[in-house]
Amino acid sequence: MNAPFETSAETAAQGRQVSAGGKVKARLAQPRGRSRSRRFGWNSLRLRILAAVLLWTGLGIAGIWYSATRLFAKHVEAQYHDELQVHVKELARLVEIGPGGTLRMDRPLSDPRFLEPMSGFYWQVSAAGQETLRSPSMTRGHLDPSVAHASTIRHLVENGPSGPTITYGMLREGPRGKPVHFVIATDVRLLDEIIASFTRELTVWLTLLALALLSTGLVAVSFGMRPLDRLAVATARLRSGRAARLEGRYPEEIAPLVEDLNVFIEHNRKVVEEARVEAGNLAHALRTPLSVITDEAERLALDPRTEATAKVLLSQSGTMVQQVEYRLARARAAASGAGPGAFSTPGEVLGPVLSALQRLHRERHFVFEAGGCEEAILRIDPVDLSELLSILLDNAAKWSREEVRVMLARDAGSLTVRIRDDGPGLTREQIGQAFEVGTRFDAQTPGFGLGLAIARDIALANGVGLELAPVADEGEGAPAGLDALVSIPLARADEQG
Ligand SMILES: Nc1ncnc2c1ncn2[C@@H]1O[C@H](COP(=O)(O)OP(=O)(O)OP(=O)(O)O)[C@@H](O)[C@H]1O
Ligand SMILES: [Mg+2]
Repeated sequence: MNAPFETSAETAAQGRQVSAGGKVKARLAQPRGRSRSRRFGWNSLRLRILAAVLLWTGLGIAGIWYSATRLFAKHVEAQYHDELQVHVKELARLVEIGPGGTLRMDRPLSDPRFLEPMSGFYWQVSAAGQETLRSPSMTRGHLDPSVAHASTIRHLVENGPSGPTITYGMLREGPRGKPVHFVIATDVRLLDEIIASFTRELTVWLTLLALALLSTGLVAVSFGMRPLDRLAVATARLRSGRAARLEGRYPEEIAPLVEDLNVFIEHNRKVVEEARVEAGNLAHALRTPLSVITDEAERLALDPRTEATAKVLLSQSGTMVQQVEYRLARARAAASGAGPGAFSTPGEVLGPVLSALQRLHRERHFVFEAGGCEEAILRIDPVDLSELLSILLDNAAKWSREEVRVMLARDAGSLTVRIRDDGPGLTREQIGQAFEVGTRFDAQTPGFGLGLAIARDIALANGVGLELAPVADEGEGAPAGLDALVSIPLARADEQG
């Protein structure tokens, strides 16, 4: 029966997935491995939390660093100034002013640093017309007495014998009202060195603290995210068909979500199953009335008066029969397969299929070249693979002259089954249409024109590549048979568990 027919909207839509070259593109995305880079991808929760930890730690540590150095400097400076004031007072106490205004000092200042040459600690006592007294540390240079111009202690930063100094001074009245200037100075450098050494040490310690906080943050993020990783694994198992629900125990924040998802998955599975059964039942129920209509139409076709009408009836019921057979075949395939995610090997599938087809087409010669690939583990359900290969082998046997050759070859990610016949083949244009329901190019050979449409559906549902290609005749360039190429993804080692 090769009556013209109109494709349904759904069939047309499915047909669009076959490219002009007759290639069926895998619709299902392959499950991908969870690489480390994906775990820390730009849009990952981990990265967000880590960025927050980084920002928080950075701001905290910078704040501590700034306030600690400021506070320390303030304290050290205050302590220094206190010390210098004490020294000015001590100096004023130790220096004796004689009746003629002569200056004398019998005991040194308590701080030994005023004795060490160019130590940065200096003092000076001077009065007009008298010999100036200087600390033994001041082996050269002098201090400016102008800072000491009142009886209260003043201070400013001046240039001293060994660089800028913090200079303190006070004035005392000598005999006859002559002023005596007491000046004490310390190099600013000494204060700066103390502050710099504190800052250096603090920086090292705070950097270590920041690193410790960041690594604990990293550990906390990894630990906190572990349930989500488990959920991702459970989802992958569900997606690949190795589990019927999301398995595992989850923390109370995500457990309700997982439970809801499981209820939803179960509900969905039931709905799909019921719909499949309904479609199958409907197709079955239409079969008998359709054969009655076809019989009646065939009878009417014998009468010249009703022949024309009968032909229309026959053509239309032919289309209906095709659709019914197609739906039934799909419902059968969907019910028998374990669904995506099951595994098979070419050896276990091809053996029984080839011997069944050999019995069916006794006059054909089947050649099987396994190429050492029989044991390859394929990511496809064995029932689906067996149906797909049976359809292609049946076609090859139907149209071959003598021989059907089945060849296996594998590359890194897939196994290719090449089914080659030595029949008339198909042109590229015919290959472009061959996958549509009801397409037939040879009215002599029996068939419904459904095989390739079903093969396409199975290939798409399993992420398998399906392609037809003419075998070029070396002599004339005309097709010398047809190649059907099926590329099945190989299971990754971690998927087979
Ligand atoms: N190996 C082949 N060599 C030549 N023509 C082929 C080959 N395979 C398929 N065809 C052509 O493509 C058409 C569609 O094939 P398909 O398997 O869909 O239908 P069928 O074999 O005619 O019927 P069914 O498979 O439903 O019994 C065939 O009718 C035939 O004309
Ligand atoms: Mg066929």
